[in-house]
Amino acid sequence: MQRNQSVRNIDYKIAPDIPYRMLNHWDNLDGSIERGYAGNSFFFQENEIIVNERTRMYARLLASVGINATVINNVNVKDCATGLISDMYYDKLRAMACIFKEYGIQLFLSLNFAAPMVLGGLHSADPLDEEVRTWWKEKMMEVYQNIPNLGGFLIKADSEGRPGPFTYGRTHADGANMLAEAVAPYEGLIIWRCFVYNCQQDWRDKVTDRARSGYDNFKPLDGKFLDNVILQIKNGPMDFQVREPITPLFGALHNTNQMLEVQIAQEYTGQQKHVCYLIPMFEQILQFHTYLQDQKDTIREIISGQALNQKNCGIAAVANTGNESNWTGHDLAAANLYGFGRLAYQKDCTAEDIAREWVEVTFGSNREMITTITDILMRSWPIYEQYTAPLGIGWMVNPNHHYGPNVDGYEYDRWGTYHRADHLGIGVDRSEMGTGYAMTYQEPLASTYNSVEACPDELLLFFHHVSYTHILKSGKSVIQHIYDTHFDGVENVENMMKALDKIKEYLPLAVYNRMVPRLEEQLRLAKEWRDQINTYFYRKSGIIDTKNRTIY
Ligand code: GCU
Repeated sequence: MQRNQSVRNIDYKIAPDIPYRMLNHWDNLDGSIERGYAGNSFFFQENEIIVNERTRMYARLLASVGINATVINNVNVKDCATGLISDMYYDKLRAMACIFKEYGIQLFLSLNFAAPMVLGGLHSADPLDEEVRTWWKEKMMEVYQNIPNLGGFLIKADSEGRPGPFTYGRTHADGANMLAEAVAPYEGLIIWRCFVYNCQQDWRDKVTDRARSGYDNFKPLDGKFLDNVILQIKNGPMDFQVREPITPLFGALHNTNQMLEVQIAQEYTGQQKHVCYLIPMFEQILQFHTYLQDQKDTIREIISGQALNQKNCGIAAVANTGNESNWTGHDLAAANLYGFGRLAYQKDCTAEDIAREWVEVTFGSNREMITTITDILMRSWPIYEQYTAPLGIGWMVNPNHHYGPNVDGYEYDRWGTYHRADHLGIGVDRSEMGTGYAMTYQEPLASTYNSVEACPDELLLFFHHVSYTHILKSGKSVIQHIYDTHFDGVENVENMMKALDKIKEYLPLAVYNRMVPRLEEQLRLAKEWRDQINTYFYRKSGIIDTKNRTIY
């Protein structure tokens, strides 16, 4: 009705192909949100759980876009959060789980692998230690007696300082299976994250490659996980950059339940101050052929369980919500929440259909307005890519908070996120002559990525170190591409602002007033990106812009 379509002859049935469609909130118990850009948590405040009218509104919001599961606390489980599985919090969690259940949503929690030590006072968290195993079994019995509707747990282990099985010389399968056995009597799930890499790298070390780590750690464990374990795998091998290749792990696991993790919190894509509609990216990811087998080899077929005949599979998005009245800070960021749910629910939806549908149900039926905002959304991801890090190289952001340009911000740091630019060239050699990462893909992907000639332009610098004068498939040199995209990116943001201004009368005033300062900030930062990137590479390469534009 909101879309002005007739409701007379509605007669259709749709059923989702992907079993678990989840949100992962990175909310802390003190009310802050890790990578949160829309205010504070509406689940927690001052180490208390909040259950109020917004809990119900939230459940309704999720159900309305087809999401059926949610993890309410941060994957980095520290301090009081370890105690979410203790009688301090059971009553509120049970109340929350009951509300969620009314809307078909299952509550999940993030777990601290070292809970037997922190909560139980044991000397170890070794997954093969009988005392530890018994502790978990008894703990899970207690948890499920108190929160019967709980779906299960999400675990970040041996990752960025979080505890895990490596401490005891055990594998991730040992760790996950111990927990899986403890929750199995209650039909609980263990969702185990694959974001495991060496975050203590020396920048001189060109052998270690963070991009390889998911594959190297988890491929050897294929087939070793119990059936109520799902491996949760980020879409790219690094960390939610504006452009990354699809992780090779999806094409490598044959006997393991898998879940795709994407991020609608715009950590590296403008932090909900910039417009960046991510659904076209997710659409590409889901359609991607892994060449895992001859047929049914796309990411969507894998995570829907169709490729490998599995039932415990799914998709999760790191959430972009907070306690701001419009949920997502930037009004246009709500399109990412809506779009994530719709894309996950319905196989044949396109990113563009979803954008248009969202605009219509949100802002009404004026044709010009619908076309303008749909167009802004659809162009926003490529535009963001234009004015930020080029050709798949990623990063170049300020350390820690990850907002704004800083070309060498991470270049000499320990996180494995290097661009390797010098006066001759730029890019990371991940071919067989370099780290060999390209060869972890199935054919023909391995050969494509391994070859400078065959590698797609947009990923060239992810896979290869090339000179600034290297000619891209587009016919431009790398350096000219960098200059052109950065100038174009800023111009495109200016055009976006003009277009929005023309249709402002069709938007609620409050919405427009929230958008304007954000667009101004987007333009300011796009210019800063343009100037920092262009100046850096002009100075490094000594090569002038063929169009003689201002480079500082
Ligand atoms: C990124 C992010 C962290 C987060 C981590 C994760 O590195 O910056 O804040 O904890 O991903 O996914 O676990």
